[in-house]
Amino acid sequence: MADATLHKNLGGWMKHVGTIRIVVAKDFHRMGMGSILANELFLHALKSGLEKVVAEVMDAQPGAKRVFEKLGFKLEATFRGHVRDQIGVRHDLLILTKDLEEFWRTSRPTNTSPTRPAKWRADPGTENPGRHPEPGRS
Ligand SMILES: CC(C)(COP(=O)(O)OP(=O)(O)OC[C@H]1O[C@@H](n2cnc3c(N)ncnc32)[C@H](O)[C@@H]1OP(=O)(O)O)[C@@H](O)C(=O)NCCC(=O)NCCS
Repeated sequence: MADATLHKNLGGWMKHVGTIRIVVAKDFHRMGMGSILANELFLHALKSGLEKVVAEVMDAQPGAKRVFEKLGFKLEATFRGHVRDQIGVRHDLLILTKDLEEFWRTSRPTNTSPTRPAKWRADPGTENPGRHPEPGRS
């Protein structure tokens, strides 16, 4: 019916980057399943301390773009004629990304939230904020 994955690199220069992939079977399109799965994986990416998340979307799939735009992903790059659809026609591949470091930096302070990874928590009880100061703290 549907398959959704968050790919993480165990090491190397993209260890901080995750990639979300989602496929919903045609009979179940436009019932909200893609959005639910994307939300779940995005939350998982946030909790796991990733710093950036990527989604690769074919330009002929407006639903796919919409799913990620609703989560605040932005178009970062376009690879021209990079992918083929099921009947062999070439399409652009859109690289949508969301910077989670930026997300935490600009989100409201929630130091007690278990969702916020420790590296982005302000150090409670001291004047020293965490690696990324909360808005309003210097
Ligand atoms: C992308 C995909 C996962 C979306 O799944 P879905 O269950 O149909 O998505 P949803 O029902 O949650 O719809 C998400 C949004 O996209 C919109 N949408 C979905 N299909 C659309 C279409 N063909 N045209 C325009 N908008 C569309 C919906 O209206 C909804 O927007 P809204 O919340 O503002 O109303 C599904 O189309 C799919 O499997 N595509 C092939 C694989 C793919 O491209 N994956 C994404 C790359 S990782």
